[in-house]
Amino acid sequence: MRLQALLVSKALKILVNHGLPPLKYEGLTVYRCPRVFPPGKLTKTSFLLAQTMILKENFEVLDVGCGTGFLSLVAARKAKRVVAVDVNPEALKCTLRNVKANGLEGKVEVRRGSLFEALKPEEKFDLIVANLPYLPGQPRSLLEAGWLDDGSLMVKLLREAGGRLKPGGFLQTVYSSLGSLTRQEIVGEAEASGLSLLERRTFKSLLEIFDVYTFTLKV
Ligand SMILES: C[S@@+](CC[C@H](N)C(=O)[O-])C[C@H]1O[C@@H](n2cnc3c(N)ncnc32)[C@H](O)[C@@H]1O
Repeated sequence: MRLQALLVSKALKILVNHGLPPLKYEGLTVYRCPRVFPPGKLTKTSFLLAQTMILKENFEVLDVGCGTGFLSLVAARKAKRVVAVDVNPEALKCTLRNVKANGLEGKVEVRRGSLFEALKPEEKFDLIVANLPYLPGQPRSLLEAGWLDDGSLMVKLLREAGGRLKPGGFLQTVYSSLGSLTRQEIVGEAEASGLSLLERRTFKSLLEIFDVYTFTLKV
């Protein structure tokens, strides 16, 4: 693993094991539970997606890898319905806690499963948001699966998302220069699966460059 990735991974492990004070974000209170990936200034990707999210009142939204539920809460304030999925049961508990704390019960449904596994056969969405792990490495625990992936999860997301979008629906996801995949690979996988790139926004931080991708399902 490159030095920058190793540093970010070590910092995350310390943060995640201890938990952090609640995050205040645009009127939301987000509890950052121990052993769940925390949105915040260090992790950044959650904020980048929240700021870029395309939302409409009639939207049905899927949050893949919900963690604390941060993106689900941001979406649920405006959208009609949100389904939040994660492989980590601690993340699902944390999301439920945050949904209740923000009075969004009835708008967010929480399910356990990998990527699209927990969805009903006919379920399709106007927007899929996915802030998936990207630091190169093999996770040895559900905790590490919060930030480590060799690129295969992102490829699977890009290959399968189209089948879970309504025509004209959007996939918004974020990836880093520290990840294993190149920009060409990400856009290539998406386009081969019937998605077209609407926008790629780039943000620079001290250790990495982040790209926020917005794809749409070709009609
Ligand atoms: C980088 S965190 C993002 C959390 C949250 N969405 C946010 O933006 O703050 C990635 C999340 O994806 C979850 N995850 C990892 N592998 C997954 C998979 N195969 N399917 C669903 N969720 C997964 C992790 O447990 C973790 O909660």
